Amino acid sequence: MTGRDARHWADYNDAQAGRAVRELCGEVIALAGPGEGRTAIDLGCGAGVETRALLHAGWRVHAIDSAPGTPERVLATVTDHAEDLAATLGGGRLTIEVADLATLDRLPPAGLVYSGYSLQYLAPDDFARLWPLIRESLRPGAWLAVTLLGDRDEWAGTPGETFLAEPAVRGLVDGLDLHRLTEEDADGPAFGGTKHWHVFHVIARAPG
Ligand SMILES: C[S@@+](CC[C@H](N)C(=O)[O-])C[C@H]1O[C@@H](n2cnc3c(N)ncnc32)[C@H](O)[C@@H]1O
Repeated sequence: MTGRDARHWADYNDAQAGRAVRELCGEVIALAGPGEGRTAIDLGCGAGVETRALLHAGWRVHAIDSAPGTPERVLATVTDHAEDLAATLGGGRLTIEVADLATLDRLPPAGLVYSGYSLQYLAPDDFARLWPLIRESLRPGAWLAVTLLGDRDEWAGTPGETFLAEPAVRGLVDGLDLHRLTEEDADGPAFGGTKHWHVFHVIARAPG
């Protein structure tokens, strides 16, 4: 985890529980079709809002976040509705791992990998180590949906974090079928005030 401490993420994630599913995640869920028991990974799952959406769409979800309290927070989100409890926990479709993404050695084979607003918190070396694990986890035909922060973001240059120029983002998805690469480069709301956002919203699909 970076300079933002456990309290910061606890406060952030507690404030997220009631929001709508992020558009990028909704889009990839629609593109990928019903999960039908396929495995999705939610990297930096936070409060679990997207984890819950994936479960609703029929995916088996492996949710990972380094923040202490993540299991309790995600379970509170996904069991918000009584029927979810039986469908997800009873069906064994949800696993939650408290781990620093920088320390992972592998990810399970997946039909969908989603990561929203989390990968920038890895130091460049750690990001460079994780990305091949993400690529290796993609089964043939698997979907990848990630937000990556760009080099014009107001936070660019924060030590220990990763901000990318567009050619680097394109390089990361080389060999995948690119379905969406949109760039947000504007002021907008953030947790704690307005800031300049430079964000790449990426959806790509493994061939096969
Ligand atoms: C901005 S939040 C995004 C959470 C969620 N995906 C969302 O869209 O609301 C960033 C999340 O990344 C997690 N995080 C930050 N650094 C991490 C790391 N090195 N390993 C795992 N999770 C990390 C934080 O705990 C936090 O939940």
